[in-house]
Amino acid sequence: MTREATGSGPLRPVMCIVGARPNFMKMAPILRAFAAHQPPIPALLVHTGQHYDSSMSDKLFADLQLPRPDLNLGVGSGSHAVQTAEVMKRIEPAMDEHRPSCVLVVGDVNSTLAVALVACKKDVPVVHVEAGLRSGDRRMPEEVNRVLTDRISDRLYTTERSALDNLVGEGIAAGRVCFAGNVMIDSLLSHRSAARSAAATLAEHGQDAALVAGAYGVVTLHRPSNVDDADTLAPLLAVLAELSARLPLVFAMHPRTRANIERFGLGHLLAGARVAVLPPQGYLEMVGLMDGATVVLTDSGGLQEETTALGVPCLTLRENTERPITVEQGTNTMVGRDLDAIRAAVGDILAGRGKRGRVPEFWDGHAAGRIAADLHAWLNAGAPAALA
Ligand code: UD1
Repeated sequence: MTREATGSGPLRPVMCIVGARPNFMKMAPILRAFAAHQPPIPALLVHTGQHYDSSMSDKLFADLQLPRPDLNLGVGSGSHAVQTAEVMKRIEPAMDEHRPSCVLVVGDVNSTLAVALVACKKDVPVVHVEAGLRSGDRRMPEEVNRVLTDRISDRLYTTERSALDNLVGEGIAAGRVCFAGNVMIDSLLSHRSAARSAAATLAEHGQDAALVAGAYGVVTLHRPSNVDDADTLAPLLAVLAELSARLPLVFAMHPRTRANIERFGLGHLLAGARVAVLPPQGYLEMVGLMDGATVVLTDSGGLQEETTALGVPCLTLRENTERPITVEQGTNTMVGRDLDAIRAAVGDILAGRGKRGRVPEFWDGHAAGRIAADLHAWLNAGAPAALA
């Protein structure tokens, strides 16, 4: 679908792209809001297949009640170049065949940038949900994906007000940007009551549910900067083992992390510690684990936001965050890889001095509805008109 055809006649489908785990909880409320919009906004769901394990993909589709994808490109794993190139190669004929009114991409994974790039070159309008977040750290692959996706997006939806400043600072016209709020929090709020208890999750994996009978912490680590180098990963695992003497931990382990622990021979560091190591968890399990936790230790972007919305203290094992509102208003504290800072922060939380925070503006369960209303009006107005 070329730009000149977007302004008249029945709306052609919005091609909605998901690829990796953190995309799924963002897309689910958007598809629901499209269906509930009057008139409904037609959508075509495409899974690039970047994440393919049942624990990383199928289980989340089921938990989030996402419809089966209309298309699965099956790209799988590879280097950044290979993965990005495979998505680009495979999405192009799908765009030719389905002639969408626009493509809608979420977040900052390789699939996000790959599809945006193809659409832009084919003159298909690009809509980016979760635009304008910046860590300022170009060594993070996600930061490159964010900057480039935003640069070629036609309509940009932001989750926090500081994102607009980032975009305008990069020369993106403010008229393209709409502050809609946080769709991931839409998912969180609508699934919180159905979340699985931490004890049930442990029991299901044959672990001792008593571990989470009192206070416990939740751990996730998967950033290459934390887990791809043995000299970085080993001290992190050692400090977790040490902390578990004061607070039992549940570690939901990403396949990359599990593989590296094995490859580097670091498994012994957690042996004997009060750490329940679980495979990647479903959505309802993860929400339940976080909701009951005393603290979450993570390097995930999404968990920083979810813990802020749940009011659970979060310690982020990174040097920077693209989500500063979680630190300024929420429950997040940046501890980097500084072992003493991690120990001290956990001590503060156990002493009842954890951050309480407040829920940021528009993290209210209605972000996807705002996106649907705005996008419908934008497409009907002829998307190119907004490209001033
Ligand atoms: C990707 C995203 C990251 C996001 C994370 C959530 C990019 C650049 N990164 O990182 O922003 O936070 O997803 O999980 O897009 N693997 C499996 N099964 C799978 C998928 C991956 O075993 O279903 C293993 C493979 O060994 C693969 C590795 O995990 O090589 C990394 O997967 P990849 O999709 O390249 O990046 P993530 O680290 O998952």
